[in-house]
Amino acid sequence: MSVRQQAAEPRGPMGVVMGWFLERGNAMQNRATIEALDPAPGAAVLEIGFGPGHALEMLSRKAPLGLIAGADHSELMVETARRRLEPRRGPAALDLRVAEAQALPFPDEAFDLVYAVNSYHQWPDKEAALAEIAGVLKPGGELLLSIRDFRAEGQFEPAGEGEATARAAEPILESLGFEVETTGVLHSPKRATYLVRGRRP
Ligand SMILES: C[S@@+](CC[C@H](N)C(=O)[O-])C[C@H]1O[C@@H](n2cnc3c(N)ncnc32)[C@H](O)[C@@H]1O
Repeated sequence: MSVRQQAAEPRGPMGVVMGWFLERGNAMQNRATIEALDPAPGAAVLEIGFGPGHALEMLSRKAPLGLIAGADHSELMVETARRRLEPRRGPAALDLRVAEAQALPFPDEAFDLVYAVNSYHQWPDKEAALAEIAGVLKPGGELLLSIRDFRAEGQFEPAGEGEATARAAEPILESLGFEVETTGVLHSPKRATYLVRGRRP
């Protein structure tokens, strides 16, 4: 299994190593994403593709959540994040599922906030997944797609690919009725994060 395949669905002993790598390699992006989120007290939040669960832990420290939910298609990552979050969830309910972004096993209009960090670019059917997210968001609910972008060649992806992925998400969200705004955070001359924010009317 290649490194790219492990990053897209960590599994087995190498998946454990990948989980460790994801946590350290994506820490800056996870922090920038959580800084951009401000859920109301008691909010129901869903992260898709949470990996080791670092962002969910940071968000639950930042705000007193009512429901911490997640969907990730890696059984290993669901077990890893559950071990991490169970002792740290406080009074919030915890509901982490093995699931695909394009087939979310949650009721309609269940969430105030849905977000994904460094995962959206891996979803095989982005239109279906965004339609699914629109369905589980409450009216007025918020979606945030956090997409990494390398500004120099020679990294995991061609330079600018993340920005192009972010820009391509905008018309899909608009066609689903979202109000959309995209901003960028520059971490270094070589790496940026694009935050595509959508609000369901
Ligand atoms: C590159 S890792 C990022 C993990 C974490 N968000 C971070 O920033 O460190 C991508 C995660 O998304 C999950 N993933 C990828 N495609 C998915 C899909 N279609 N549905 C659900 N989860 C998916 C993978 O299993 C993995 O845990």
